[in-house]
Amino acid sequence: MQTINQLDSLRQDISALRVAKGRIALVPTMGALHEGHMTLVQQARQHADAVVVSIFVNPAQFGPNEDLDAYPRTMDRDSELLRAAGVDILWAPPAAAVYPPGFATKVHVDGPSRDYCGGARPGHFDGVALVVAKLFNQVQPDVALFGEKDFQQLAVIRQMARDLDFALEILGVPIVRDADGLALSSRNAYLTAEERVAALALPTALHQAAAEIRAGKDVGQTLAAATAAIIAAGFVRVDYFVLADAVTLQQLHHFDGRKARLLAAAKIGKTRLIDNLAI
Ligand code: PAF
Repeated sequence: MQTINQLDSLRQDISALRVAKGRIALVPTMGALHEGHMTLVQQARQHADAVVVSIFVNPAQFGPNEDLDAYPRTMDRDSELLRAAGVDILWAPPAAAVYPPGFATKVHVDGPSRDYCGGARPGHFDGVALVVAKLFNQVQPDVALFGEKDFQQLAVIRQMARDLDFALEILGVPIVRDADGLALSSRNAYLTAEERVAALALPTALHQAAAEIRAGKDVGQTLAAATAAIIAAGFVRVDYFVLADAVTLQQLHHFDGRKARLLAAAKIGKTRLIDNLAI
C-alpha cells in the first residue's frame, strides 16, 4: 500500500494503478476506522480491481460548536488495518492541500440535505458535498462506497453525483450491526453500560415500526408510538423518527408502496445516535 499526501503524486499513481489493475474503487473516510469502514473496504474489493481509501478529517463539515480538534485521529493504526486489508493507495492529504489559502468554492445540495440532520447541523452537508466532490475529482474512481448508516449523507451524495454528472457508480453498503442489533458507530464507545443496553430501543423501535407500516397501520400513530417507546427506554430526546422517500428523503405521511426508509436520531445520555431501516 502506498500512502500519498500530495495531489500530483496521487494523480500519477492513480493513472499507473488504472493501467496495471483496471477498475478503481474509492472509500472516503475520516479515519478512526472501525468494522463498519472495513466492511466498506471488503465490499470495494469485490466491486473493483484496485481500492483507494481516503482519510481526511474534513473541517468544512464541522460546525463552529462541533469539536473538530477532538475528532479521533489514529493514522498509524488505520494505516496498518488498511495495509492488512489489501488496500492499494491510502490518500491522506493535509488540510492545506485540500483547502489552500484563497479557497472560495462552496457546494450546496438542496433537497435531501434540508431536514433531519441537515436541520440540526446547518452547513454540515455542504461540507460533506464539497469534500466528496473534490475526492471524486482527485481520485476519479469508477465506484465509490458509502455506509447506509449515514443514509441522509448517502442521499445527498447521490443527488450531487446525478446533478453534477459525476461518471461513477455510488454504492450504499448495508449497516453493520452488533450481534444484538445496535448499529456500529464510533459514538457507541461513549455509552455507559446501562445506556448501551437501553440504546437497543432505537433499532427495536425501527423494526417494530417497519413491520406495522408494512402491515398497513397508520404512519402517524406508528411513528408516535415508536418515539414514545424510545423515550420510555431511557433516551432523553428523539430528534426525529420519520418515514421518508428513499431517494428524495421527502417526509411521507402515508406508505404508498414506493421505496421508503425510516430515519431516526435520538439522544441517550450525552450521545446522539442515528439509525435507519428500509421499508
Ligand atoms: O462519512 C464520513 O466519514 C464523511 O462524512 C466523509 C464521507 C468521508 C466525508 O468527509
